[in-house]
Amino acid sequence: MNTKQIAAEKAVELIQDGMIVGLGTGSTAYFAIQKIGQRVQEGLNIQAVASSKASEELARQFGIPLLPFADVEVIDITIDGADEVDPNLSLIKGGGGALLREKILAGNSKRFIVIVDETKIVPALGTFPLPVEIVPFAYELTVRKLQALGAQLKIREANGTHYITDNGNLIADCHFGDITDPETLHQQLNTTPGVVDNGLFVHMTSQVIVGHADGTLEILS
Ligand code: A5P
Repeated sequence: MNTKQIAAEKAVELIQDGMIVGLGTGSTAYFAIQKIGQRVQEGLNIQAVASSKASEELARQFGIPLLPFADVEVIDITIDGADEVDPNLSLIKGGGGALLREKILAGNSKRFIVIVDETKIVPALGTFPLPVEIVPFAYELTVRKLQALGAQLKIREANGTHYITDNGNLIADCHFGDITDPETLHQQLNTTPGVVDNGLFVHMTSQVIVGHADGTLEILS
């Protein structure tokens, strides 16, 4: 079992009968969704909501019952990966492009459990480029605003054209150097016209489950 899978499977132990479960996105969340599917086949009685079309599809493949958002009052637990985790458990997410839906799920969850391998633990956020979701309309102007905030950025591409999120938007992958005050940067970005949301998750994490290369687990909270 690899380190991502060890962390993911530990997180899935937190799920109990009757829960509404938020499904994350990405290669670590994949292992959690797979394990949840296995537990459902063994009789676990839960309903799930997904943070991306890809995870929704995986849930279907693994036989996990999905709930329409209209029927959700609160999500009991969301399990998701991250690109970077700092000592305050602030995160960069969105490497897979699902940051907006992931943040909606995390923000509506009683517990937000982050699953990572040890390579994601960093002294300061910012080596991984911060994904910022921006609307396509006049994106060149939004890019200039982001540059004025100090970003060196690239509009994400896929298959030789702009990458488009599940919400029909673009992603600007931004380097700001070390992000020592994620809360302020989050505020600056999300008050920039044209920005839909950004991949900083501040004061949202309940627990981080870290899988180490030697097979051990560490819980940060
Ligand atoms: C998806 O948009 C992301 O937020 C992922 O959760 C994050 O990129 C971690 O992905 P991996 O688990 O694939 O490293």
